[in-house]
Amino acid sequence: MRAIVAVAPDWGIGDGKGMLYHIPGDLKYFREQTKGHTVIMGRKTLESLPGGKILPKRRNIILSRDRKLKVPGAYVCHSVGELLLLLEALGEKDAFVIGGGEIYQKLLPYCESCLVTQVSQEPPIPPTVFFPNLPKAGWHIAKKSAPQTENGLEYVFTQWEP
Ligand SMILES: NC(=O)c1ccc[n+]([C@@H]2O[C@H](COP(=O)([O-])OP(=O)(O)OC[C@H]3O[C@@H](n4cnc5c(N)ncnc54)[C@H](OP(=O)(O)O)[C@@H]3O)[C@@H](O)[C@H]2O)c1
Repeated sequence: MRAIVAVAPDWGIGDGKGMLYHIPGDLKYFREQTKGHTVIMGRKTLESLPGGKILPKRRNIILSRDRKLKVPGAYVCHSVGELLLLLEALGEKDAFVIGGGEIYQKLLPYCESCLVTQVSQEPPIPPTVFFPNLPKAGWHIAKKSAPQTENGLEYVFTQWEP
C-alpha cells in the first residue's frame, strides 16, 4: 500500500476539521493518482470530505471502531487487522492510504512508498494533526518533481521510500 498526503514544512496536515491549504493542482494530482484505486481513510477524514461523502470512482474503505457505523457504498473496517484481511480477500495490493493523521501513523509500517506534496510556505492556520516525520523515521526521497507555483504557494510532488 501507499500513502498520499499534502504536508506543511513541519509535516502538519490539518486542523482536525479540514486541510491546511487549497491547492487545485494538488487536488488534481490526488485524483489522477487515486482514480480507479482503493482508498483507505479514517472516519474523521470521511467527515471532512464535502458532504461527508465517499470519493467517487474509487473503492472506499473507512476505518472506525464504531460497529454501528454504516457508510453507503463503502467498506467499514474496525481494526487494522480487519483491514488487512479485507485487502487480502479483495486481492488488493496497491491501495492508497489517504488520511488522516491517526490512520497515516497506524498504516505507515505497511506502506512501501509515500506520495508527499510538500508545500514551502507556512499554512494560514496552525496544524494540530501531523503526518509522521519521514526523514526522522529514516525514509528518503526517491523522486521529486520540478517546483510548482499556484495561489502564491510553492510546492513539489515527492515520492518517499523507506
Ligand atoms: N493534508 C492531507 O493530505 C490530509 C489528508 C487527509 C486528512 N487530512 C486531515 O487530517 C485530519 C483528520 O485526521 P485525524 O487524525 O483527526 O483523524 P483520521 O485519522 O481521519 O480518523 C481517526 C478515526 O479513525 C478511526 N480509527 C483510528 N484508528 C483505528 C483503528 N486502529 N481501527 C479502527 N478505526 C480506527 C477512529 O474512528 P472512530 O472514532 O469512528 O472509532 C478515529 O477516530 C483533518 O484535519 C483532515 O483534513 C489531511
